[in-house]
Amino acid sequence: MTYSDDISILRRQGRCTDMRLYVNIDHVATVRQARMTDEPDPVRAAVLAELGGADGLTVHLREDRRHIQDRDVDLLMDTARTPINLELTAAEEMVALACAWCPRQATLVPEKREEITTEGGLALDTETQRRPVGDATRRLQDGGVHTSLFIDPDQDTIRISADLGAAAVELHTGEYANTEGAERAAQLTRLSDAAAFARSVGLAVHAGHGLTYENVAPVAAIDELEELNIGHSIISRAVLVGMERAVREMSEILRRARRS
Ligand code: PXP
Repeated sequence: MTYSDDISILRRQGRCTDMRLYVNIDHVATVRQARMTDEPDPVRAAVLAELGGADGLTVHLREDRRHIQDRDVDLLMDTARTPINLELTAAEEMVALACAWCPRQATLVPEKREEITTEGGLALDTETQRRPVGDATRRLQDGGVHTSLFIDPDQDTIRISADLGAAAVELHTGEYANTEGAERAAQLTRLSDAAAFARSVGLAVHAGHGLTYENVAPVAAIDELEELNIGHSIISRAVLVGMERAVREMSEILRRARRS
């Protein structure tokens, strides 16, 4: 089955209208790793996220393995009923693992050991920065993995992403999420313009980072966006109301935003 087969199955099931919610379950693993024990299990959380209506599952296997472990990806590849989006750096070891797992989708991200979470999009200004990302994109796409690049919402970076052979870009919504008022409105316009441009050069358009129940609706209403990756806010709510309900509530906000 190909990536587009997955999407058409979700559409037939009424699970995927024109916006997919991919739930990032990294922070379930963060709680587990705080005690180096076996609970809570992100694989069990994945089942509940699917029951709550997730269209896909996102996991970031960091080089430092600070949250998701190889064992989690192994089990998810066997048990998930929705597509897996594996986030990884373009480092040789990580790309080799991803090619062996062959998830439906991969998203190449930058990674710094000292950061709390992914801080910005991929830097693609110089040939030295572009080469590993281009090589990783080619290897993953040749292996049948729909490959997306996590980038800031800028025209030049979008054009470079297309030139590197990516199938999609994930627009970094962090600056939108971290601002307020007129500044946030300007960031929303920036995201909307970037989404339109990415679509015009043939890329599928995803977005994510820092999106919450409170700030997601205007982003979800951007017509060209077809997938949102949301983690921290959903997992935080799940601690209080349960995973299924937390995902269902986010899904409902996205559906309403699309309708309006
Ligand atoms: N997209 C990417 C590429 C990410 O690295 C992250 C954070 O792991 C997310 C989306 C989700 O961000 P958040 O946890 O803030 O929803």
